[in-house]
Amino acid sequence: KTMDILRDFEDKCATPIGKLRQVADAMTVEMHAGLASDGGSKLKMLISYVDNLPTGDETGIFYALDLGGTNFRVLRVKLGGVENVKKEFQEVSIPPNLMIGKSEELFDFIAGELAKFVATEDEDMQIPPGTQRELGFTFSFPVKQSSIAGGTLVRWTKGFNIEDAVGLDVVEELTKAMERVGLDMRVSALVNDTVGTLAGGRYSNTNVIAAVILGTGTNAAYVERANAIPKWQGLHPKSGEMVINMEWGNFRSSHLPLTEFDESLDNDSLNPGEQVYEKMISGMYLGEVVRRVLLKMAEEAEFFGDTVPTKLQKPFILRTPDMSAMHHDSTPDLKVVATKLKDILEISNTSLKMRKVIVELCEIVATRGARLSAAGILGILKKTGRDVTKQEENQTSVIAMDGGLFEHYTKFRNVMQDTMSELLGEETCKNIIVELSNDGSGLGAALLAASHSQYLEYIE
Ligand code: BG6
Ligand code: GLC
Repeated sequence: KTMDILRDFEDKCATPIGKLRQVADAMTVEMHAGLASDGGSKLKMLISYVDNLPTGDETGIFYALDLGGTNFRVLRVKLGGVENVKKEFQEVSIPPNLMIGKSEELFDFIAGELAKFVATEDEDMQIPPGTQRELGFTFSFPVKQSSIAGGTLVRWTKGFNIEDAVGLDVVEELTKAMERVGLDMRVSALVNDTVGTLAGGRYSNTNVIAAVILGTGTNAAYVERANAIPKWQGLHPKSGEMVINMEWGNFRSSHLPLTEFDESLDNDSLNPGEQVYEKMISGMYLGEVVRRVLLKMAEEAEFFGDTVPTKLQKPFILRTPDMSAMHHDSTPDLKVVATKLKDILEISNTSLKMRKVIVELCEIVATRGARLSAAGILGILKKTGRDVTKQEENQTSVIAMDGGLFEHYTKFRNVMQDTMSELLGEETCKNIIVELSNDGSGLGAALLAASHSQYLEYIE
């Protein structure tokens, strides 16, 4: 019976190459629709107001603040050319109650931590007297921007749900909170983490054309031609380009291999009906999918004996890093799996056969997510005409990647990369490079703060 549940799940999660191509094509179609009009697609294709990516000439000392991943981060960056970047940062975890509380409380906390960090400035990292500190704000949620330094929160995603913040300008909220804690700082750039990662990646590599986050959540940003954005009413940028924050986590398509477990996970989530693609791929959810399948095995096939382990009934108890540890267990008797089951779910006395089933289950869930994310990237490459080798130009396209899932879940990363080769063919794949850009987003936000500094014209 257990094996029936497992095999049935495996079948429903299948991602043969034909299906992945359909997903990629659907992604491209939705990209067009989202660029045509607001509300034209599940893909919001948000205009970032970043029409110039870093050149390497940015100079000065800037702050950055990064909210929305596993940790909240504050950074101080001294820019003096690509080979000459000095970075100091501090990581703070957000108290879970603030993630579902009141807007003011969250922003007060952030501003307070930032003020504490500013107080640690040493001589080498001080801005010229008489000037105001400037900040690049990485806010990793969907924002409808009104300018490079302003925009309203469309909705929360991942583990955040602070109702009274939806619709507010997050830069105004942060600025008010900074005033409340007596911190004099100007927000010069507001960016999504994908946009920050793209900017950070471009700084050291001019071939970077897109950025993908595979972390707690998942999303992508890429460089689009300004005249391919029908909904863009503003002035056409000189560069002729505009960075688009796709918010691809909200992608959905009838081609996605959804199962009953994805549906129940979605129903019970903070944002039912939203972020369907993200819920099949990203770190916040993979372990939870595994837990739900295990729970069915326990309930309907007595997988863990005649009682259903109490801990197994607790949503989100099985985190993706633990799933990854079990999946990578290379001990002959799967000791790591046994330890995790005992420590997290209080299940002991599992047989080797049972532990093998669990590893297989992790493999199915991770493989589906990794292959679907590769299909998403193919969608972007198709949209930008980079999915075929341009022999004469020998054009290289680099995708800057970040996020804990990509960085730490080796099997996920490997499957994703193998799937890219499978989809693109070996020849084309040589010109498409997927590159880890660790914390590119913090640096990217500081760089964009620099290129939008209020003092720029005076420095020239
Ligand atoms: C970080 C970025 O490196 O990756 C963040 O700076 C981003 O902005 C994060 O949100 C995503 O990773 P995770 O795994 O912490 O969600
Ligand atoms: C979620 C957010 C998105 C962010 C992504 C990765 O999908 O909505 O803005 O880029 O997570 O952090």
